[in-house]
Amino acid sequence: MLTVAVLISGTGSNLRALLEAARHPDYPARVVVVGADREAAGLAHPEDFGIPSFLVPYERFDSREAWGEELHRQLSAWRPDLVVLSGLMRLLPPAVVAAWSPRLINTHPAFLPEFPGAHGVRDALAAGVAQTGASVIVVDDGVDSGPILAQERVAVLPGDDIASLHERIKPVERRLLIDVVRRIATGELDLEDIH
Ligand code: GRF
Repeated sequence: MLTVAVLISGTGSNLRALLEAARHPDYPARVVVVGADREAAGLAHPEDFGIPSFLVPYERFDSREAWGEELHRQLSAWRPDLVVLSGLMRLLPPAVVAAWSPRLINTHPAFLPEFPGAHGVRDALAAGVAQTGASVIVVDDGVDSGPILAQERVAVLPGDDIASLHERIKPVERRLLIDVVRRIATGELDLEDIH
C-alpha cells in the first residue's frame, strides 16, 4: 500500500478526489497526512476523512529555507512513500526538492511545458489558445519543469473566464492524478526511471 502525503494551499478539490479514490479497497494507495502552508479551506477534507493534517504557515518563517526545513521535518515524521503537491501555491526550496524528488509530484492546470507557473489558466486565456490542458509532473528545481508523468488537452471555449476554464481543467487533473498515483503504487510507473 503506497502511503501518500498531500500538500495544499487552496480548496483541495484535487485532494478530495484522491481521498475519495483511496476509499475504494482496491485502490493501492492511501493518504496518510495532509499539509498546508496556510489556513487552507482544503484542510476540511482530511478532517472529514479522519486523516491527520499539519500546518506550516509560510508567513511565520523569516525565509523560504526556514519554512522548507520545518515542512521537511513535518513530512519526514510521516515517512510517506510519495508526496503530492496539489494546489500548493509555493515553490519548495531546493533542499526540500532534493530530499523528496522524484517521489514528489505536482499537478498543474496547463499542458506543460506550456504556461508554467502560478497563473497557468490565466496565461492560457490571455494567449487566446483554443486548447490548454492538465499535467502531472515530477517536481524538480525549476518551475513546473520536471518530467511529465501524464497530461491531457482541455478545450478553451468561447466566453471562458479563468474560473470556468479552471473548473473544466480540474476534473481532468483529478483523473490524471488518481491514475498516476495508482500506477506508481502498482509499480507500473517507476519514478526512479523517469528522466
Ligand atoms: C489546481 O488546478 C492545481 O493544479 C493548481 O491549483 C489548483 C488547486 O485546486 N496548482 P484545488 O485546491 O485542488 O481545488
